[in-house]
Amino acid sequence: MANESSLKMNIDLTQTEQICKFHQGRKGDLLIVLQKVQALYGFVPRDIFPVVIRHLGVTSSEIYGVLTFYNRFHLSPRGKHTIRACRGTACHFNGSLEILEKMREHLHMAHNQDTSANTLFSIEEVACLGACGIAPVIMVDEEVYGKLEPEGAVEIISRCEEAEKGKEG
Ligand code: FES
Repeated sequence: MANESSLKMNIDLTQTEQICKFHQGRKGDLLIVLQKVQALYGFVPRDIFPVVIRHLGVTSSEIYGVLTFYNRFHLSPRGKHTIRACRGTACHFNGSLEILEKMREHLHMAHNQDTSANTLFSIEEVACLGACGIAPVIMVDEEVYGKLEPEGAVEIISRCEEAEKGKEG
């Protein structure tokens, strides 16, 4: 599960109310409800907790229990681009931590933050990307980059940022 970030947005709870009413009183439907909520917003906003608690009769710890058990859930909005930073053994011994730190520094992201303030990038730490031969490895969306130095990783992100600026202008 992703960490909550400092990003704030106004959440319209109307559709969450409808989803929860459909599953009224059915505690066993909690997973399905959270899946529907994530499909709706792209993440599971903290604001929906009282609605889910009221309609399903679950506790907030039960909600957190499901959210932490399944790592597909996110508690903050996702960035337009996903950076998967490999933290597996081969990548670790080839400097993956330095790469991760440098990318976070470049994007001004705190350690408990998984999405950049401009919502362009989300960083996910993963166990192994299956490309240990070219460690250290990151993936940006579907693209794999190996044998990286921290500066190289920042360069990849910068190119992506430039491309986004180009789309704006
Ligand atoms: S440990 Fe990083 S790709 Fe396998």
